[in-house]
Amino acid sequence: MKRKLFVTTALPYANGSFHIGHIMEYIQADIWVRFQRMQGNTVHFVCADDAHGAPIMLKAEAEGVTPQQLVGRIGAERQKYLDGFHLGFDNWHSTDSPENTELSQDIYRKLKAAGLIYTKPVEQFYDPVKGMFLADRYIKGECPKCGAKDQYGDACENCSSVYTPTDLKNAYSTLSGAAPVLKTSEHYFFKLSDPKCVAFLREWTGGDRLQSQVANKAKEWLDGEGDKALGDWDISRDAPYFGIPIPDAPGKYFYVWLDAPVGYLASFKNYCTKKGIDFDGFLADPQTEQIHFIGKDIIYFHTLFWPAMLKFAGYKIPNNVYVHGFITVSGEKMSKSRGTGISPLRYLDIGMNPEWLRYYIAAKLNANVEDLDFNPDDFVARVNSDLVGKFVNIASRCAPFITRRFGGQLIDVELDEPSPSFVASRMKDASKEIAELYSSREYGKALRRIMELADIANRFIDTQKPWELARQQGRETKLHMVCSEGIQAFRFLAIYLAPVLPKMGEAAATFLRVEPFSWSDTQSYLPLGHAIGSYEHLMTRVEEKQLDALFDIPAAAPAKEQKKMTEPSKSGSHSHSPANSPASTPHPTSPGPAAPTAPAETISIDDFAKIDLRVAKIVRAEHVEGADKLLKLTLDIGTEQRTVFAGIKSAYDPATLEGRLAVMVVNLAPRKMKFGLSQGMILAASGDQPGTGGEGQGIYLLAPDSGAQPGMKVK
Ligand code: 2FM
Ligand code: ZN
Repeated sequence: MKRKLFVTTALPYANGSFHIGHIMEYIQADIWVRFQRMQGNTVHFVCADDAHGAPIMLKAEAEGVTPQQLVGRIGAERQKYLDGFHLGFDNWHSTDSPENTELSQDIYRKLKAAGLIYTKPVEQFYDPVKGMFLADRYIKGECPKCGAKDQYGDACENCSSVYTPTDLKNAYSTLSGAAPVLKTSEHYFFKLSDPKCVAFLREWTGGDRLQSQVANKAKEWLDGEGDKALGDWDISRDAPYFGIPIPDAPGKYFYVWLDAPVGYLASFKNYCTKKGIDFDGFLADPQTEQIHFIGKDIIYFHTLFWPAMLKFAGYKIPNNVYVHGFITVSGEKMSKSRGTGISPLRYLDIGMNPEWLRYYIAAKLNANVEDLDFNPDDFVARVNSDLVGKFVNIASRCAPFITRRFGGQLIDVELDEPSPSFVASRMKDASKEIAELYSSREYGKALRRIMELADIANRFIDTQKPWELARQQGRETKLHMVCSEGIQAFRFLAIYLAPVLPKMGEAAATFLRVEPFSWSDTQSYLPLGHAIGSYEHLMTRVEEKQLDALFDIPAAAPAKEQKKMTEPSKSGSHSHSPANSPASTPHPTSPGPAAPTAPAETISIDDFAKIDLRVAKIVRAEHVEGADKLLKLTLDIGTEQRTVFAGIKSAYDPATLEGRLAVMVVNLAPRKMKFGLSQGMILAASGDQPGTGGEGQGIYLLAPDSGAQPGMKVK
């Protein structure tokens, strides 16, 4: 029985470019979709821009454009990323669309008819100058406990105490600076606490449609008591707001999180109209499965609000919500708004193969809600060893003999020692197992299994040594058989890898002179006498220097993202920026401003002693042509002069630096950068605590007190 699938990924906010976190999610879903298509299943795979909400409205205003213009500009850049990483969405739409307005309002009306909508007055801070209600993140003031200035409305970054915005002293609106006033307005609520909602959600989250960690989380929320009890959901926002008007409620708009998931349906509807597909019919079919891929930060919306909205509005309810963890880069967390130190666009611009990244991410993904780390050295090793050293190597060692000596034709294999047909049959036998791993999103396991098979094929070639057979008299048939067997094995591996490496799959099918791969091809071998085309190299190795180029992006990384040590680092430094998260309704998973960073793991004095810190005198500081963030410093460390490129241009005028003392790490391995060799780093503080987004906090060079001499040891 063929499956009918409607698959989505989370809709990205339309106020910024894709970061590596988005790309990772799309790769995960795209692999699954391609695998399902290879199985012959019908899949409609859509996404859209999440266009509404106050942050987008305010950002547009700050740029002097309309929200529609801002959203249009961001929307226009999406395709180059999607094409670049071979992400095969059928449709990319926007939540700011007629389909979404119609569907959101329809769902709302039906929820109202079901008795699940009510209104009640809500008292909230209001900016009298700006003329709008303020979400907590737009209010700052003095901490009621310790008096620290410029604290957000929910927690103090200085003393870690937690409070509400009304507790702040001398509160001000970050939008206008005005003192906010308390004002009451009527809000619309979705009655999530209604016993029929709760009963439905218990049932829906209770089955095996969710990963166990996700189901447990949902259960915790459903079972909450006292101040943790499941609350009703405030779904309205007052004008001015960029959103969808609530029917019969002048001046009221749907909160962005109500219309965002409806955007899944809106994008699909838009696609159906273009393609002549029956939208209602497809979704009404009980056989159709609706599947959402999302990140772990938005579980609440997708396992409580969304299924309940759909259920009580009489729409199809999701079959599965597949949740993944976050991506870190060299262990560093990512900021939701700015991503990590890896820029997906730079990755493409410098000509790195998108399939390397797809492979690496797939190799590290499993079906659990686990974070995944991109480690540059591991990336180079994994891609080169698996894809080039193992997989491509099979074809490149066998194909030239077939084409040059045997007119490209394959021969049947009838050898006994060791039985070569055993090799291709081992590949064939793994088909079901690998299919199950893909289907259950255990990509890491699937790829490990495929690489075990590649090892078997390579060992066979190593033992049979076709290059020696080719030099021996009378071994033509054996050479032909060995290489035919190698090609048969290669074909299975190429099919198995095709969901992850679609372009390679196409190139391999062309080289093998077969139709585009489908999973049913793994039920048979290439027939005797089948002629293959001439082999052209299917994949090149990743070069170390490409990774250097990927991370040496002073122009792309905001200055505040520089590490405390000011050499641009392979790992981006990140913190959650509250400024771009439109989820103003607090929910259990939302990352609010946090306390100052806790100290890192304990190290021994010996660990510390490994770092040779010296007093250095800045003898020269210069601008670097073409570098937006870097200054070139010449440092005197007593015994010699060193050059260091430091990411401090945003904070320091070079002229003011000359003659100053700084603290330098002198035994750091020199690093080749685009602008020259950096021979160490100087230390600086920067405001990158979680919750601040590192914004507006500047960079502060560390300096010894006067009297210290260049070369003195710091310990
Ligand atoms: O967290 C986010 O990035 C949201 N824009 C995701 C929305 S998913 C769906 F509900 F639209
Ligand atoms: Zn405080």
